[in-house]
Amino acid sequence: MTPRDTLADGLTRARERTLRLVDLDDAELRRQYDPLMSPLVWDLAHIGWQEELWLLRDADLARPGLLASDVERLYDAFQNPRAKRADLPLLPPTDARGYCRTVRNKVLDRLDALPEDALTEDDADFTFALAVSHEHQHNETMLQAINLRSGAPLLGTGTPLPAGRPGLAGTSVRVPGGPFVLGVDAVTEPHSLDNERPAHTVDVPAFRIGRVPVTNGEWQQFVDDGGYRRPQWWSEPGWAHRERVGLSAPQFWNGDGTRTRFGHVEEIPADEPVQHVTFFEAEAYARWAGARLPSEFEWEKACAWDPATGRRRRYPWGSSAPTAHLANLGGDALRPAPVGAYPAGASAYGAEQMLGDVWEWTTSSLRPWPGFTPMLYEQYSQPFFDGAGSGDYRVLRGGSWAVGADILRPSFRNWDHPIRRQIFSGVRLAWSDDESEDQEGGS
Ligand SMILES: [Fe+2]
Repeated sequence: MTPRDTLADGLTRARERTLRLVDLDDAELRRQYDPLMSPLVWDLAHIGWQEELWLLRDADLARPGLLASDVERLYDAFQNPRAKRADLPLLPPTDARGYCRTVRNKVLDRLDALPEDALTEDDADFTFALAVSHEHQHNETMLQAINLRSGAPLLGTGTPLPAGRPGLAGTSVRVPGGPFVLGVDAVTEPHSLDNERPAHTVDVPAFRIGRVPVTNGEWQQFVDDGGYRRPQWWSEPGWAHRERVGLSAPQFWNGDGTRTRFGHVEEIPADEPVQHVTFFEAEAYARWAGARLPSEFEWEKACAWDPATGRRRRYPWGSSAPTAHLANLGGDALRPAPVGAYPAGASAYGAEQMLGDVWEWTTSSLRPWPGFTPMLYEQYSQPFFDGAGSGDYRVLRGGSWAVGADILRPSFRNWDHPIRRQIFSGVRLAWSDDESEDQEGGS
């Protein structure tokens, strides 16, 4: 496939996914299921508006757009907090669909008209990929919204997943100490976002990391052992939050061995990675388990570094693109896969399911890598660095089952407040490895 075909294909697949998610009646699309989330019709028109701004107006708001200025302002995420979006005079669903279609037709015309060399040389390629990434990222937040909805289910129970392998929960792999290359550059990953760049060398002491994410079965033991009742496992702000909102189990657990997932009540599968936990719960669980959470440096090294070649792998398993045999991505499963479901997707160090299934909380705050340069979408990362703006953020890594397969990389960084858990968030444990002073690769 030519770069042009790849981009056109990416745009089309993202849009097909969006349209499947909004295949609902108008009243449903206008509903706000939770103050944390937007009505689905807002996401729909916002996807079209960002695409128009980046790809048809060169990110210049002063250039006239297809919507009246008082209307387009409704779709600026920074001017309209999520909790207020249902009260805005939003475009009716039919108009929002029509607007997105008009924008997309113009975008495809523009892509067709671009000379092949302009696609790679003028960064135009990046801007198209950014629109694809943005659309898939909104598809994931739309799934979070639908999962919070009460009433009869809108979606089924999800597509089948491979079976897990027993005996992996609680096991770990060792990552010897030594330098590795953190982050990526435009040359190797032209579609990487600003906060993933530039690549630079970081020295990481030896550590151990969970071979697989923490499971529901393991989490149940934490609950049964009074984990939510004993402040000794919790940080001070974590315990204060637990008390304030009365946390006693992951979100959507019903207290009788069942959980509610997209409106379906079902038995909690013991071998599935736990999801819908806050950073504070993840931290408490780790302390109870005699472990800690990984830093994002550790996480990325365990995921992407290949000590045999002294280079990064494009994906944990190598260079081939993700498939249903390697990782649970794309959103159709509507849940994480049981641990051990993807032996072929293991990293060089033997860590499994690092991409897909659940976002994994790390101890790291969101910081720019040295030499950071903001991209065209300047407000994507910069306003959130170092606890700026609305405060503390912790980085999550690895993507969830809801992430589009063509937008995820080992360097991809997500972040959220430590109290959030409507996201598809889970836990992978880490341990310091004090006994060893080894260096891999030698010098
Ligand atoms: Fe957005």
